Amino acid sequence: MTVAVLVLAAGRGERLGAPVPKAFAPLAGVPLVVRSLAAMARVREVDRVVPVVALADRDRFAALAPGLAGIPKLTAPVWGGAERQDSMQAGLASLGPDVDLVAVHDAARPFVRARDVARVLAAARDVGAALLAVPVTDTIKRVRAGRVVETPERSECWAAQTPQAFRAEVLREALARAAAEGFQATDDVRLVERLGLPVAVVEGDPGNVKITRSEDLTAAHARLLDLRACDEAVR
Ligand code: C5P
Repeated sequence: MTVAVLVLAAGRGERLGAPVPKAFAPLAGVPLVVRSLAAMARVREVDRVVPVVALADRDRFAALAPGLAGIPKLTAPVWGGAERQDSMQAGLASLGPDVDLVAVHDAARPFVRARDVARVLAAARDVGAALLAVPVTDTIKRVRAGRVVETPERSECWAAQTPQAFRAEVLREALARAAAEGFQATDDVRLVERLGLPVAVVEGDPGNVKITRSEDLTAAHARLLDLRACDEAVR
């Protein structure tokens, strides 16, 4: 079983308000994309880690070479597209027929735990597609034009995370159908759901946050300092 992970880093991430694209924003001096690539390479079940980067960031990514040199399993970068789904398509197209399982991960989620990646890969192998998610603690409202249109049952609401993982043929079929029908999603397993195929939910870690706004980066930095302080205290 050959397993590849696409680490999507081709977005602009304008909500972060950083002077560089989000994936290149440093967290304690290390860009988010480097942290996420390293986190994926640490997973024993993963054979190949594929960075998907905007062509406009070619030089910026090349400049990370010293930091990437120590990361095993890394392939050459693949150039992403205008939408997240285009970036995923480009990453998938770069994989050979030898790849059986594909996971897709946001470069903006640097805290993902290896054991959760392994669990979502195992579920995708068994079911066809799977995602990490956490039960929501807030009540969720569906809102349109400033008015509540629906309140889904909270016990059935989960917040989707990445990685989301797929048998390669399932992801190929789902992307081909979405492209043929002009369907775009911000969530990868959505493309499989719409084909009526099963998607397994694997309970993840609330700490696997996506860095979106500048306050997320500040909170992430504080968390890293806490983790370091804990490490030192138990050493
Ligand atoms: O914008 P958002 O935070 O939802 O993006 C999630 C991930 O998808 C980010 O890591 C971003 O770099 C990636 N992405 C991409 N190509 C795009 C848009 C987003 O690789 N065209």
